Amino acid sequence: MSTTVVIAKDRYKYSKIGTSIIMYCLLMISIIATKAIAQPTVFPMPLQMKVNEGTFQLSKSSKILITDSSLLTAAKYFQQKVLLQTKILYQIVLDDVLAPQNNVKSNILFTAGLVNTEVNGAYNIAIDNSQILLKADDSVGTFYGVQTLLQLLQPNITGESSFPQITITDYPQHPYRGMHLDVSRHFFTVSEVKNYLDKMAAYKFNVFHWHLTDDQGWRLEIKKYPLLTSVGAFRNGTITGAYPGTGNTNKKYGGFYTAADVKEIVQYAAERCIEVIPEIEMPGHSSAAIAAYPQLSCFPEEATFIAAKTPWAGDAKGKQVQQTWGIFTDVFAPTPYTFQLLEAVIDEVIALFPSKYIHIGGDECPKEAWKRSAYCQTLIAENNLKDEHGLQSFFIKRMERYINSKGKKIIGWDEILEGGLAPNATVMSWRGEKGGIAAAAQQHNVIMTPETPLYLNHAQSRYEDSVTQGGYNSLQMVYNYSVYPEQMIPENQKYVLGAQGNMWSEYISNEAKLNYQLYPRIVALSEALWSASEVKSWTSFEKKLPVLFARLETANIMHSKAWYDMQATISPAINNKGINWNVSSNTKEYDIVFSAPSVNSTTNNSFFISTKDTQTLKVTASQYKKNMSKNNNSPNSTPAIASLTQTFNINKATGKTISLQTGPSKSYPGNGAFTLIDGVQNTKGLQRATEFVGFNDTDLNATIDFGTATAFTSIKLHTRGVNGSWIYLPSTVHVYVSNFPFTSRTAAAANAILKVTQQNGKAILNINGKFRGRYLKIIAKNLGTIPQGMQGSGNKAWLFADEIEVF
Ligand code: ACM
Repeated sequence: MSTTVVIAKDRYKYSKIGTSIIMYCLLMISIIATKAIAQPTVFPMPLQMKVNEGTFQLSKSSKILITDSSLLTAAKYFQQKVLLQTKILYQIVLDDVLAPQNNVKSNILFTAGLVNTEVNGAYNIAIDNSQILLKADDSVGTFYGVQTLLQLLQPNITGESSFPQITITDYPQHPYRGMHLDVSRHFFTVSEVKNYLDKMAAYKFNVFHWHLTDDQGWRLEIKKYPLLTSVGAFRNGTITGAYPGTGNTNKKYGGFYTAADVKEIVQYAAERCIEVIPEIEMPGHSSAAIAAYPQLSCFPEEATFIAAKTPWAGDAKGKQVQQTWGIFTDVFAPTPYTFQLLEAVIDEVIALFPSKYIHIGGDECPKEAWKRSAYCQTLIAENNLKDEHGLQSFFIKRMERYINSKGKKIIGWDEILEGGLAPNATVMSWRGEKGGIAAAAQQHNVIMTPETPLYLNHAQSRYEDSVTQGGYNSLQMVYNYSVYPEQMIPENQKYVLGAQGNMWSEYISNEAKLNYQLYPRIVALSEALWSASEVKSWTSFEKKLPVLFARLETANIMHSKAWYDMQATISPAINNKGINWNVSSNTKEYDIVFSAPSVNSTTNNSFFISTKDTQTLKVTASQYKKNMSKNNNSPNSTPAIASLTQTFNINKATGKTISLQTGPSKSYPGNGAFTLIDGVQNTKGLQRATEFVGFNDTDLNATIDFGTATAFTSIKLHTRGVNGSWIYLPSTVHVYVSNFPFTSRTAAAANAILKVTQQNGKAILNINGKFRGRYLKIIAKNLGTIPQGMQGSGNKAWLFADEIEVF
């Protein structure tokens, strides 16, 4: 009342108070509204999601009503997952007529046949204050709706669990959303495979590509050929450390899946709307099968070739299951014996796997044995085949005919293009996207699995310390992957079924490491494959990461936080006098304070290293909740990487201007040409791939500008040979020195030439002499096509370099 009096007495005051009240109310409404409309975090991002104010409260008597028995599996999945979280078992009721007694509020209702889209898997969710309504086109859409509901559930074990009120419309963009697992290099048990399937299901993946056979173990029991597993599923040891290995475990290793195991896994996958595609490798990667049945080889009497210095356990006589990684020359002979065995294998595979596809491998099959084999040469001549690639095509086509005759289709790695594609084959493009583009141009279906960025066994951290396959595929690179290559003409996009993340297990020997490689990249990939481009946004995804990490921590799932690593880049210092070591972090929630007491800092995250320094430096990071650092003396949590130690080797080239005539491969770009003179020498091998530049079939042709005429007597090119990966040292290194820029007209003779002897591992190639000039050109000639008798012969060699030093 008194307010009214005041108002009546003083209109000015009234208007001020009134405005304040209105402002206050608006503010409160906006706070409440902001709170209410906070977007729940759902991966992968649904097509449309509209959040309303309020929640739907589950009551203990809430029921899960399904209108069709085909929805029972999804309903049970939902029931069991909710039970785990809330400790309450909600009853499932099949109610195809929606009987009045069941059609009460506070229920969860799953209905099918109500959403129609061209893509399988569509669903709608509507949650109001009284019920959850999940409508889908069928059981698949219902299952995906369930996955979304599980991410919306706010559990409470006192029985008051709730969901936000929300409407969602969602369906996938690509019909093939795959994950692969290699169980040959390391074996994963039935229960570990099931866990993998659960992880896939949570993010709406629908194809499990199960790589069952390889050189290091045949993992599928075949009744007709029992030695495939009794012999082929076990090896006497496994190399330790990065290939070619620093030792051997000297422990028998192996395992295989029985028919009953496979049935269990296939059923488990089907309940999660996942199709299992088995891969039976041929004609290469077949050492384990050959160890079991040596007649499969072109040379049954020859012992398995074991490269010099391979750490080997046990017997080295006769045919052996491989203990090391790489590519091996003893491959299937294209004989009636081999085809008979493989057809029998296919018969049993077909009986176990309902998928319409069988993956027959086809990758990385060296041709040496076929070249040496009189039988193969006669076969080539008799069938008018061009060469051994023609023979590979002959092999695959023959297996395709058999598999097609049984009503199934083949998938092969992109090497099956060489020598001519089998008529109905689907191509899995792994050596980049070229194979996929070529296959689509021939109107063949394609699944994209380019090594960069979809090999999830490659490092996701620039500073990976665990032994990991070479290559760097960051979370952001995976997220931004688009299944349609830029170079593909739009009319051919219809042949691209989708994409797949691959998980090769050479360096993944247990489930914790598997999860570390998987998370969070599998979640990024799920959005790349499911979410529409309108809702796909790296910025939004990055904002959701803390929620994802919190969920993984709650679930106790090993994962990598490499995205929040302290990141360092190196750039030339001003006037090319030394280098700057620039550190940063992607963390958004924290202010990071960097310190490196022994180095001059130019700004708080850039440290200057002059040409006089050759030292090991350490930068440490502390993190403070955003905007709190000034008020707190001690950090309030530990960054993912709290310190970074780096040795810099400074020389006359460090920090100077450098250019490359031909850029490095997209897969191994390093930090461009500057990688070669950034003062950082690689010590950990290819798991730190960002420290290298890699060239596939092209030369390293670098020019360094010292700025002024400079005298020097020694040039050191740091490079690396890794035979099994077809990475070789250059064949020669030519050095040119001049006071004038090199032009195409400069045809001067080299000032020095070094002929290189191949070796495995790190190599520093030394070129000595008396040189003086402003410009130094170094041409390291790529080995080119790998010669006969060397690993990978006939393929294009890789050349890797991490540093050029000049003294
Ligand atoms: C492959 O990575 N060799 C398919």
